[in-house]
Amino acid sequence: MFHDIPKPTLARMKYLEEIDTKDRADGTPRLSRLRQIPAETGKFIALLAAGAPAGQYLEIGTSAGYSTLWLALACRLRGRKLTTFEVLEEKAEIALQTFELSGDEDIIDLVRGNALDHLAGYEDVSFCFLDVEKEVYSDCYEAVVPRMVSGGILVADNAISHKTELRLMLDQAQVDDRVDAIVVPVGKGLLVCRKK
Ligand SMILES: C[S@@+](CC[C@H](N)C(=O)[O-])C[C@H]1O[C@@H](n2cnc3c(N)ncnc32)[C@H](O)[C@@H]1O
Repeated sequence: MFHDIPKPTLARMKYLEEIDTKDRADGTPRLSRLRQIPAETGKFIALLAAGAPAGQYLEIGTSAGYSTLWLALACRLRGRKLTTFEVLEEKAEIALQTFELSGDEDIIDLVRGNALDHLAGYEDVSFCFLDVEKEVYSDCYEAVVPRMVSGGILVADNAISHKTELRLMLDQAQVDDRVDAIVVPVGKGLLVCRKK
C-alpha cells in the first residue's frame, strides 16, 4: 500500500504538507489553516482501515482531503468507498480539487455540512476517522458507535495533544462496554476503539 502510492496522490500529499507547514509557521488564522494529521498518523489510519470489516467507511473532518488520501489507499486495496464530511465550504472546495487531482472521485463521497446533521443516515459503519472541532468529538462518538458493525474501528485524533478538551469522549470510551478502547502515542495521540 505504501510502496506503490500513485504519483498523483503523492504529489498532492506533498503539496498539502507544504501548505500545512507554511500555515503553522506564518500565523495563518486557525479556521483558514488546513490543520492536517502528520504522515505517521496517515499511515496508521490507513493500516487500520485496510483491516476493517465490510461496511461504511466514514471520515469526519475532511479539511483539504489530506487524511482522506491516506484512507483512499486502504479503500483501493479493499475495494471500499469512503464518505467524508466537511462543514466549511472553502475547505470542501479544496478537498474536491484534491480528489480530482488524485483520481479518487470514484471512491470518495464528500458531504458538505455539519456531520452531526447527517450521521443518523449511515448504518453498518465499519471504519470512522474523527478529526473535527474538539467540542463535537463526544457527540460524533455517540452518533457513530451505535451504528458500527461488530469489529468496526473508530479512531479519534488529538487524544494526547488535547486530552483535556477531549476528556468527556476519552472517559466515555474507557467505560463504554460496547467497545474495547486504547490511546496510542501515534502523531498527536489516537483513541482507537473496536466495536465488540
Ligand atoms: C483538524 S481539521 C481536519 C484535518 C484532516 N482530517 C486532515 O488531516 O487532512 C478539522 C476539519 O473539520 C471540519 N469540521 C469541524 N467541525 C465539523 C463538523 N461538525 N462537521 C463536519 N466538519 C467539521 C473543519 O472545518 C476542519 O476542516
